[in-house]
Amino acid sequence: MSRASWLAQTEQDTIALAQLLAAWAEPGALLALDGDLGAGKTRFSQAFAEAIGVKGIVNSPTFTIIKEYEGERLPFYHMDVYRLSLEEADELGLDEYFYGRGVTIVEWASLIDELLPEERMELYIEHLGGEERRIALTGKGERYAGWCEALEQMGAGR
Ligand SMILES: Nc1ncnc2c1ncn2[C@@H]1O[C@H](COP(=O)(O)OP(=O)(O)O)[C@@H](O)[C@H]1O
Ligand SMILES: [Mg+2]
Repeated sequence: MSRASWLAQTEQDTIALAQLLAAWAEPGALLALDGDLGAGKTRFSQAFAEAIGVKGIVNSPTFTIIKEYEGERLPFYHMDVYRLSLEEADELGLDEYFYGRGVTIVEWASLIDELLPEERMELYIEHLGGEERRIALTGKGERYAGWCEALEQMGAGR
């Protein structure tokens, strides 16, 4: 496990982080997002989707729970589990996505913690006021720990 911190002073800084992680993502990658309503989980997901070549509009999946997109580089699975009970989430068979051909982002991921693969990149977005956000990253598993180390080396944890 490894940690990194990314200070976004503007929305563009959040987008830049999403673009970096999108460039590193491979099939089966999982980003688990948390943070209060309005923190920027959906905004981050939109930037990520665009960076892996999803064309068109990526909406919040709050009401649809799961949306699938064909990105130019990878399929993208976007989930928002806020309205689901653990039992309901379990019945969806999420492993099909987590271990599929694409990349998954889960908003409110900690609500279904026990259904998530051990290996994942956790992002906690904290609203600091205005456009400012602190994004705390925890890389679980070798692959994501490596991402955190790379981010720290870039001087992300200002
Ligand atoms: N640094 C930032 N990072 C992400 N979103 C930001 C930032 N600054 C302002 N915003 C705005 O904050 C809002 C975040 O909303 P959203 O992504 O839907 O939040 P969540 O999905 O976490 O509830 C968007 O309107 C976005 O444009
Ligand atoms: Mg959202």
